[in-house]
Amino acid sequence: MNKKGFIFDLDGVIVDTAKYHFLAWRKLALGLGISFSEEDNEQLKGVSRIHSLEKILAWGDKQLSEEHFNSLLQKKNNDYLSHIAQMSHEEILPDVPRVLSYLKDLGQPMALGSASKNARRILREVALIDEFDAIVDGTNVSKAKPDPEVFLKAAEGLGMPVEQCIVFEDSLAGIQAANTAGMMSVGIGSAEVLTEAVYVFKDFTEISNEFILNKLVS
Ligand code: BG6
Ligand code: MG
Repeated sequence: MNKKGFIFDLDGVIVDTAKYHFLAWRKLALGLGISFSEEDNEQLKGVSRIHSLEKILAWGDKQLSEEHFNSLLQKKNNDYLSHIAQMSHEEILPDVPRVLSYLKDLGQPMALGSASKNARRILREVALIDEFDAIVDGTNVSKAKPDPEVFLKAAEGLGMPVEQCIVFEDSLAGIQAANTAGMMSVGIGSAEVLTEAVYVFKDFTEISNEFILNKLVS
């Protein structure tokens, strides 16, 4: 059987944490008198913490001292962590365990490729940390998505050539990163947003084992 490198984003793909990033950013933005909609949030998905704050400040035409900027980053992360402190196995998105265990049974290499500096903590909390052969997260990269660095490092960690890698992503920045890396991109979410993905599924319940075997592995 062919071997492919299956690379998964974390937030909004493996676990239902994108909603907590949204709540924490909205609270911060509103606190600065900057409006913040679901559409604004879409532009922050997959984007690093620092870059996200820079974007929010630019939208509100605000300049802050370095000290204030750093304290807001800290505040946002504390707020986010207070949401995820309650996380359990139940926050894993539907059918993710089925897909991961099917790929494992097929002997397919799997990696995590996330912008989050909290990725390992979250994977531990939902007891999925041992499912991945390689983990690359926000602590391992210097360039944020849509730069392909995170996925290139994940492929390297798996020892797989880029053209044999398949990336699952819920953000446009992540789909662009996968495409730039020369990998196949699979969007998880809305086809209207993830226009540059090769395939788009609402969630993993729509991805059958037959599809994985016949279209992705072979
Ligand atoms: C990405 C999220 O996975 O990680 C972004 O989609 C988030 O919303 C980014 O900003 C960085 O995450 P963290 O946990 O390091 O703040
Ligand atoms: Mg994501």
